[in-house]
Amino acid sequence: MITPLPSLHFHNLLISLLFLLLLHAPPCRADGGSWSLLLPNIGISAMHMQLLPNDRVVIYDRTDFGTSNISLPAGKCRPNSDDCSAHSVEYDVASNSIRPLMLVSNIWCSSGSLMPDGTLTQTGGQDDGSLVVRTYNSCDTCDWQEIQNGLVQGRWYATNHLLPDGRQIIIGGRQVFNYEFYPKISDTQNAVDFPFLVQTNDPDIENNLYPFVFLNTDGNLFVFANNRAILFDYLHNQVVKTFPTIPDSEPRNYPSTGSAVLLPMKIVKGNITAVEVLVCGGAPRSAFLNANIGVFDRALDTCCRIKISDPDPIWVMETMPLARVMGDMLLLPNGNVLIINGGSTGTAGWELCPDPVLNPVIYRPGNQIGSRFEVQNPTTIPRLYHSTALLLRDGRVLVGGSNPHDKYVFEDVMYPTDLSLEQFSPSYLDSNSSGLRPEIISPVTRTTVGYGHQMVTTFAMSDKLDPSSVLVTMVAPPFNTHSFSMNQRLLVLDSGIPTMVADSLNYEVLVTVPPSSNIAPAGYYLLFVVHKDIPSQGIWIRIK
Ligand SMILES: *[C@@H]1O[C@H](CO)[C@@H](O)[C@H](O)[C@H]1NC(C)=O
Ligand SMILES: *[C@@H]1O[C@H](CO)[C@@H](O)[C@H](O)[C@H]1NC(C)=O
Ligand SMILES: *[C@@H]1O[C@H](CO)[C@@H](O)[C@H](O)[C@H]1NC(C)=O
Repeated sequence: MITPLPSLHFHNLLISLLFLLLLHAPPCRADGGSWSLLLPNIGISAMHMQLLPNDRVVIYDRTDFGTSNISLPAGKCRPNSDDCSAHSVEYDVASNSIRPLMLVSNIWCSSGSLMPDGTLTQTGGQDDGSLVVRTYNSCDTCDWQEIQNGLVQGRWYATNHLLPDGRQIIIGGRQVFNYEFYPKISDTQNAVDFPFLVQTNDPDIENNLYPFVFLNTDGNLFVFANNRAILFDYLHNQVVKTFPTIPDSEPRNYPSTGSAVLLPMKIVKGNITAVEVLVCGGAPRSAFLNANIGVFDRALDTCCRIKISDPDPIWVMETMPLARVMGDMLLLPNGNVLIINGGSTGTAGWELCPDPVLNPVIYRPGNQIGSRFEVQNPTTIPRLYHSTALLLRDGRVLVGGSNPHDKYVFEDVMYPTDLSLEQFSPSYLDSNSSGLRPEIISPVTRTTVGYGHQMVTTFAMSDKLDPSSVLVTMVAPPFNTHSFSMNQRLLVLDSGIPTMVADSLNYEVLVTVPPSSNIAPAGYYLLFVVHKDIPSQGIWIRIK
């Protein structure tokens, strides 16, 4: 016989249940943004992506698994091979179409950076590709150029960053505990030892590949690996500062892949007021070995934020509404952070994550703790290991990839290799915001500007402007792979109050170009005028 619960007890139970539900419910219902499929099949799985200053996106996978689902043009085949398929494509945003490109050496799990002249310079890969540097300069008929022995050290799973002198630094790689520069500083340049990568390498797991690297405004590099970070003077090979270990000590780098961004930096009278880094998600230290025996640990649901410009910075922990490993973090034009893609259990690696997270989350860095996260509408396509995401000039987010298998597998698996490209449109693109959206009239796209120069930006509005709610932002186009966007930075520019232009319905605002290459390395940026959180379409600006 079942004893009925005393009613008081029952009542308490209900209250505790309700309380538990409240505690575990996402802080907001999921209702922001919208998804749509751009191309169902681009022939390759988008493992690496870079937006170029002509609004095309270079996309590539690996070359060593057999044929892809797209042929090379004009009956070409790869040299000394019966593989006549392409492993790289160029996506043209304007026409929503692709063109196959030729890659010879294996470019798998590599890294890269857009150089100041707008050329993508990509480094490393596996086997015959690990020492190769490849450049891609986009035009209607352009293709990859490969430079044999371009690196002094073979690198696979390294991180690149553009430097204030226009070179890129390439840090680490699998079992590679050093860094180098490209172009080389001299013909006799060697790799420079980097003990931090030895110290952060977990035996048999690693957890420090694709380290999170950001250029600090003092010219040093912030380097995060595993569960901690340093400020690093790469010119003198000196650790300038050691930041505390993350409070829970759990790893955030490959294969416990989380992600990280340098939060938007505001320039006030030529100075940056604060430099902050946000690291989100990842997997507990046990997760990789467990996943290899079929036990899938829950991903981390925390973000850790640190103000690296403070004399004694500390990590502040926040809880995300959804646990996530292999999430991408993207800076949106209005300064919010989009956390997208990935799964809720396991780790990076083949077949190691069975639970996709379909909802992106927006993080508003300027809000108070507790009201920063907002769950967004879900996609229908899982984006697990080897998926990518990047911001387009019009504010949409391009999403692709996901191949948790060591070959292309389309049948008899839970998550087939994905060859599609999808877009996520954040809610600032909703049609009911169009009246608030500025439209940049001048300068024209691809204008070149000098450090510290003043630039008049003219824009049109269809609704009334609130001049006190205008920001002008500048976003560097990052190289995206393995849940990290290399070179990603967003600057909120020094700008005046917009005023109406006489005899027109347009407005103009005086904007100051960033003062130095420590704050903004030379090269192409997307410039946006943001009104009440609604960004214009971007224009390309080149800082020289
Ligand atoms: C890709 O190509 C393989 C081999 O030709 C074929 O079996 C498969 O159906 C194709 N998949 C897609 C998504 O096109
Ligand atoms: C920027 O601010 C820092 C710290 O407040 C200060 O040391 C530095 O001199 C300032 N730089 C400029 C250019 O004003
Ligand atoms: C647009 O509509 C959405 C959903 O109905 C609403 O949340 C948002 O506040 C609206 N935006 C404006 C600017 O009216």
